[in-house]
Amino acid sequence: MKFPIEAKSATRDAVGALVIGVREGRRLQAADLPREAKAHLADAMAGARFEGRRDQSLSLFRVPDLAAEWVLLVGLGSDQEQGARSLRRAAARSAKALDDAGIKTATTLLAAAACGDLDPYWRARHLVEATEDALYRYDATKSKKDKPRALGQLALNLPQAREHASAKRGVAHAAAIAAGVALAKELGNLPGNVCTPRYLATQALALGKRHPKVKVTVLEERELAKLGMGAFLSVSLGSRQPPKLIVLEWRGGKKSEAPCAFVGKGLTFDAGGISLKPPTAMDEMKFDMCGGAAVLGLFETVARLGLKQNLVGVVPASENLPDGQANKPGDIVTSMSGQTIEILNTDAEGRLILCDALTWVQRTKCPKLIVDCATLTGACAIALGPHPHGLFTTDGALSAALVAAGETAGDRAWPLPLWDDYQDQLKSNFADVANVGPREGGAITAACFLARFVKDVPWAHLDIAGTAWRSGADKGSTGRPVPLLTQFLLDRDA
Ligand code: BES
Ligand code: MN
Ligand code: ZN
Repeated sequence: MKFPIEAKSATRDAVGALVIGVREGRRLQAADLPREAKAHLADAMAGARFEGRRDQSLSLFRVPDLAAEWVLLVGLGSDQEQGARSLRRAAARSAKALDDAGIKTATTLLAAAACGDLDPYWRARHLVEATEDALYRYDATKSKKDKPRALGQLALNLPQAREHASAKRGVAHAAAIAAGVALAKELGNLPGNVCTPRYLATQALALGKRHPKVKVTVLEERELAKLGMGAFLSVSLGSRQPPKLIVLEWRGGKKSEAPCAFVGKGLTFDAGGISLKPPTAMDEMKFDMCGGAAVLGLFETVARLGLKQNLVGVVPASENLPDGQANKPGDIVTSMSGQTIEILNTDAEGRLILCDALTWVQRTKCPKLIVDCATLTGACAIALGPHPHGLFTTDGALSAALVAAGETAGDRAWPLPLWDDYQDQLKSNFADVANVGPREGGAITAACFLARFVKDVPWAHLDIAGTAWRSGADKGSTGRPVPLLTQFLLDRDA
């Protein structure tokens, strides 16, 4: 979709539809609105009880003295609500309304609105990201495709020419992020019988073809066995699908510079294994690869942005199913690190595939920092709900950088403790460590388990179990935390 930036008169020259944001209890913002149009709009707003509350919208056909055929008024909420979040909501709402009405071309005044203290870069960036996010549609496995997206162009009207350069950067960054988010969503939404470990590997290789500067390697089961990845390999014993270790590399920085590493859980279907999950919402365990999908999405974005850094992405991909060969409670496996693990619950499989991926990336890529993201625990979703990712790290600087990146990018993370006090809960009588502790603090013990496999390198873990997808009527992958991770890198690129 196109997002040109224009300074021309929105009221005289805008074709198609014109989007105007209205703050609750304030007058219309469009400065150069002809008097007759203003009167007409005020009248329509009063008649429709449109007060500019958040999530309100009103569409009007042929307003006198306005060039655009349609005018869409969209509520921005009260003065206290102004900022990135209300801008994103209004942008999403208007994008859907325009597209539903079959409008192909529109001009929006939302980027010119004050929106708290957002500069033009961020106004453009949030607006474009939220628009693309709202217009994403999944139809890969539907025999009748939804009608194609109508909206092909949304012009950002910015009367002040001096704001154009930074707004253009905002649009470009947002478009790159939106592409990564869309890739992550699509992979997440595909069913487990399509999106297998092999499929994820194929998609990673396709990404490498699209962007030749992204080097993609896939390690096969026998190579993983040679490397001694007993924990990772054990998870797919009950599956017909062989596991894959997908590795992506981006070398935009100096040759000598150590890379930042991103590790994503790529569990393409998690039935729990012998510790079988209850049937309710088990279909949602196709989303258990969303961490891996986010790493692929991040590389899509990074390639489009051309970041000047070295990066490595690692996605251990596997299924977790019950079968005669599958892991059994009490089984003990030896991880690549040499630590033995007693598998007390086969449903705590994410940490088993991640621990070997963490060891591998430290040994072979010597990263300067590691961030992993994983739909690791239901406990994290219970603790934090659907808004922030759970953030676990003992590195203060890394914690602050990730929190700040999430805050500015509208993709928040919130810290939970990663204290050694919890490590005792992972004691095993028969191995070096058990793969589960008691129910209480389950998200933390999962992070503590991973911590045992990280040595002398700043590392953070994002538990995205509550944020990677939505349940209910809007069921679907969110593409998070691609925006957070991208912002983290953009902040380091500066
Ligand atoms: N993929 C799940 C975590 C999950 C569950 C995410 C529900 C989102 C919604 C993970 O592999 C898992 O099963 N974790 C267990 C751990 C437990 C056995 C210690 C869990 O959360 O129940
Ligand atoms: Mn599980
Ligand atoms: Zn899982």
